[in-house]
Amino acid sequence: MKAIYLIGFMGSGKSTISKELAEKLGVEVIDTDEEIVKKSGKSISDIFASDGEGYFRQLESDVLLSMPLEDAVVATGGGIIGAEKNRIFLKGKVEVVFLHADLSIIMERLKGDTTRPLLSMEKQGDAEALYRSRLPFYREVADLEIDTSAKSISAIVDEIAERMK
Ligand code: S3P
Repeated sequence: MKAIYLIGFMGSGKSTISKELAEKLGVEVIDTDEEIVKKSGKSISDIFASDGEGYFRQLESDVLLSMPLEDAVVATGGGIIGAEKNRIFLKGKVEVVFLHADLSIIMERLKGDTTRPLLSMEKQGDAEALYRSRLPFYREVADLEIDTSAKSISAIVDEIAERMK
């Protein structure tokens, strides 16, 4: 089976859905953020604070380009589609699923979250600008878009598994 990569804004459910989908399909699950933490020995917030976003993006691309093309579900960080080389990697080689949710729902889900440097640094208006600027890139690389706003995790997992047959 071609590997399935989940993309979408922070809080769109990529990590949770990737684990359930991988279990259903009987393949391994990998999270690019977790790989970055393992590789660097630092939390995402620490990397942003001590090395800066540019360094984080380099690590993120290195990790993405080393991900499997088959028999895996890969959850990616929300900003993965920012770099052109990442978009080139995603297009055509693997199945890409864009998990979409309204920004208001995302902000509600992430209220009080302190693990995401871009959201803690940004005000609501900046988060909205970031969300809008990324939408065309998510859509450019996606093979399938699912609106997760009003669906249960298991319904989303079933929908992806069904559509990927
Ligand atoms: C980021 C999203 C985060 C993480 C980092 C940057 C982004 O991942 O990679 O904080 O730029 O949107 P999640 O989408 O899993 O929260």
